[in-house]
Amino acid sequence: MNILLLGSGGREHALAWKISQSSHCARLFIAPGNAGTSACGENVPIAVNDIPAIGEFCLRESIAMVVVGPEEPLVLGIQDYFAADERLARIRLIGPSAEGAKLEGSKDYAKSFMMRHRIPTAAYQSFTTKTLAEGIDFLDTLRPPYVLKADGLAAGKGVVILEDLAAAKEELSSMLVQRKFGAASSRVVIEEFLSGIELSVFVLTDGKDYKILPEAKDYKRIGDGDKGPNTGGMGAVSPVPFADADFMKKVEEQIVRPTVNGLRSDCIVYHGWIFIGLMNVDGEPKVIEYNVRMGDPETEVVIPRITSDLVSLLQATADGTLAQAPLTVDPRSAVTVMLVSGGYPDAYEKGKSILGLDASTDSLLFHAGTARAADHSVISAGGRVLAVTSYGTTIAEARNKSYASISHICYDKMNFRKDIGLDLMKD
Ligand code: AMP
Ligand code: GLY
Repeated sequence: MNILLLGSGGREHALAWKISQSSHCARLFIAPGNAGTSACGENVPIAVNDIPAIGEFCLRESIAMVVVGPEEPLVLGIQDYFAADERLARIRLIGPSAEGAKLEGSKDYAKSFMMRHRIPTAAYQSFTTKTLAEGIDFLDTLRPPYVLKADGLAAGKGVVILEDLAAAKEELSSMLVQRKFGAASSRVVIEEFLSGIELSVFVLTDGKDYKILPEAKDYKRIGDGDKGPNTGGMGAVSPVPFADADFMKKVEEQIVRPTVNGLRSDCIVYHGWIFIGLMNVDGEPKVIEYNVRMGDPETEVVIPRITSDLVSLLQATADGTLAQAPLTVDPRSAVTVMLVSGGYPDAYEKGKSILGLDASTDSLLFHAGTARAADHSVISAGGRVLAVTSYGTTIAEARNKSYASISHICYDKMNFRKDIGLDLMKD
């Protein structure tokens, strides 16, 4: 079948790499893709949020499956758009309806979903401009640190954690009254601070059954030792040693199963990925957030560990036959290290020539922010530039391979964390 993948990051290169290996894939198109995805299929210059143009392309190229990488088209209702058009409705679209995408698009919606289905999460209340005074009173009842979240999508920046009560009250007013995050902060969720270790859990669901994919740990801060500002993610490791069988059994029973059953009982159309960001609080899993897509850079370690055919799994996800679909996983560890532009996550320069891309055969190189210059050479085109993934029988072996491969790659002002996986190494 012909497949269209939407997106342009490291996540999409990893998905394109895996999809293109499937015997079920005839032609793969990536919209808009990057310099790396063009080695797995054909890049097409369509923006991920141009839903009518995506629909027309699907008809023109006889697309049988659309795999949605980022959340934006889902929040905009791409699934509903395809379902409402009889020519497009036969196409398998991997991703939830707009209603399902609210699990990521609105923190307040996600919180009430969790409450309704008794899924463990931090205690919370939400406030609007009208209830600012109640919000300030609520902060008085809490102990620090204070966690304030813009309700809507705020490009990953909408969560503010503060130690000081006065600063928290000021932040609440700045979010609600001054609309610090625009319309996204017209509602603010204030929640209990959860202390523990974070884990990213990935699920595929067809709306009634589910498969739990390999879990991963993400490294969000720019600097070694988790210092400095938050980024999109500087590296990832899978599997995660603390996510042992006992812990994952709790995750499945207390979180994954009630989530999928909740989607069904709420009549939410959902054939796609669920990314559960959770905290291990003294051995008990609690949900921090839902995303309706795969994580980035987690995908760059999760997808390489899946040994079964991804297109078959996605087909079963769309068709409602996931219970019968085989999922097999490589027992080895995978470690990815993100190479970023100097200055990221603040201002950075693009257009730097990248050298050494072919020098290492020991790692998988997934392009994130890359493009081709007029002479076809690869140049940087974003904050996160390349994800370098390696396998190893231990985390130590996998991370050593990634760092050895990185030593062959260079571009002006290249930056990366040196400590990916170090905290997880007992082996
Ligand atoms: P989110 O955008 O919801 O993933 O939040 C961004 C980051 O803030 C998370 O990855 C956590 O590190 C942190 N965070 C969010 N909610 C909480 C919480 N209730 N307690 C502690 N940390 C949190
Ligand atoms: N790595 C976290 C995310 O994709 O949101």
